[in-house]
Amino acid sequence: MDPVRTLFDEETVARRVAELAEAVAAEFSPDLLMVGILKGAFVFMADLMRALDRLGLRPGVEFIRLSSYGQSKESAGEVRLVTDLRTDLRGRQVLLVDDICDTGHSLAFAARLLAERGATLVRTCVLVDKPSRRVVDFAADFIGFTVEDVFIVGYGIDYAEQYRHLPYIGTVD
Ligand code: IMP
Ligand code: MG
Repeated sequence: MDPVRTLFDEETVARRVAELAEAVAAEFSPDLLMVGILKGAFVFMADLMRALDRLGLRPGVEFIRLSSYGQSKESAGEVRLVTDLRTDLRGRQVLLVDDICDTGHSLAFAARLLAERGATLVRTCVLVDKPSRRVVDFAADFIGFTVEDVFIVGYGIDYAEQYRHLPYIGTVD
């Protein structure tokens, strides 16, 4: 494994997740549905879900899976739905959650998909935003951290399936 430089330590991440939950709670009804994008969002989802519970919300939780980078660090630009939801979105308030917004292809695709299914509200939440990398016109509604063009790992986020287990957010060269 290549050395990892810490960008946001555990305490910093926990504090920011609690703040994000406050912002989400101000906009959503208690029975919102969180939809996470696998696999990168699963750790963030788990912490955000419990932070929302502490604020009195009772979010439902679902996941989708999109085609990924594979072993590469670059996005192919073409996104496919690999694993779909099994929940009716009609009339639901949906918070779409991902680990990173990079080119924007994945979130733009997934947000459109969920909106087309009759959700009354679709908002997007990302742990890490990389605006300088954007290819499509997309802005997340809730953003944990904004970084330059660096490759992020840890807290559920991988490089070639490594580093997901790290409890903090770091960068590898
Ligand atoms: P986008 O479609 O280009 O915005 O890419 C979004 C997805 O690419 C994220 O959900 C991540 O899974 C992956 N990705 C983008 N940047 C990074 C990174 O720095 N580290 C690890 N995965 C990344
Ligand atoms: Mg991802």
